[in-house]
Amino acid sequence: MKIAVVGATGMVGSVMLQTLEERNFNVTELIPVASERSIGKKIYFKGKEYTIVSMQDAVNSKPDIALFSAGGDTSLKWAPKFAEVGTTVIDNSSAFRMDADKKLVVPEINASELTKEDKIIANPNCSTIQMVMALNPLHKKYKMKRVVISTYQSVSGTGVKAVQQMENEMNGVDGDMAYHHPIHRNAIPHCDVFLENGYTKEEMKLVREPQKILNDRTVAYTATAVRIPTAGGHSEAVNVEFENDFDVNDIRKLLNETEGVVVQDNLETNTYPMPLYANGKDEVFVGRIRRDLSQPKTLNMWIVSDNLRKGAATNAVQIAEYLVKKNLV
Ligand code: A2P
Repeated sequence: MKIAVVGATGMVGSVMLQTLEERNFNVTELIPVASERSIGKKIYFKGKEYTIVSMQDAVNSKPDIALFSAGGDTSLKWAPKFAEVGTTVIDNSSAFRMDADKKLVVPEINASELTKEDKIIANPNCSTIQMVMALNPLHKKYKMKRVVISTYQSVSGTGVKAVQQMENEMNGVDGDMAYHHPIHRNAIPHCDVFLENGYTKEEMKLVREPQKILNDRTVAYTATAVRIPTAGGHSEAVNVEFENDFDVNDIRKLLNETEGVVVQDNLETNTYPMPLYANGKDEVFVGRIRRDLSQPKTLNMWIVSDNLRKGAATNAVQIAEYLVKKNLV
């Protein structure tokens, strides 16, 4: 497989390269792409040195698959050009996620929707992926009515500049700001831009994307997304009201049996998911599973995953693996 990684110098792009390498994806030719200012720079993949090339050079070499993580504007402009030369684009930006004719895929849930005709495939938002991984089996069994989400999101989700801001502030160094406010010793209830309805774009991704992935627009979602000074992963407090009643132990069992989900839930040993330990892992960790005592048929849980791995790079590479396995590229 001839693979282009667009945004190869970025937070997600570099984890994409690492993930391709770790999962031993069959890369016969790697084409790393970044912005004009990085052309000529070197990156390493499987112990070999590669030179960053321009977007146009990458299109000209007609890769089989292009993994994109270079921002929405870059995707809007360039993904169609790759698609035109026959490349299948797996795009980590939000550019195409809600397009009616583009699939929004979490492989464990809906990869079977993919066909050879899908030339631009959208990778969902990081906070959405980890949440639907836990919600999908529960929805199938108990039918969700309404989901209330509060996120505690890592600075790595914003990109290199945000991680640098946090490190600068921790070390008392002046530097560029990725956020409107300091992030060290802070919690910023502002992820992505504000929309006219008073929600942030990130919050509305958590409202709309699960409806598309789980193929059920009858479920209502509402979210508050907060940036916190962690680097390892995103955490989410999720409250779910179901149509049907459940047994909490059955929920634990169901989640434990779900591919890609790990239950960490033992109060006696203070075991629950935390971003420090999810860092670098591909699984989605779920804990603090308990009944909401304020109303019937309602559950509280805590979901943590590495936003750069299952929330971005791993999910994209899993889509690529599925395409190869099913002969769709
Ligand atoms: P560069 O390193 O040259 O700026 P992050 O989100 O972690 O900051 O990373 C963004 C990634 O997207 C980087 O690899 C960055 O390259 C790349 N990028 C940004 N703008 C463009 C563009 N216009 N064309 C191609 N790659 C881009």
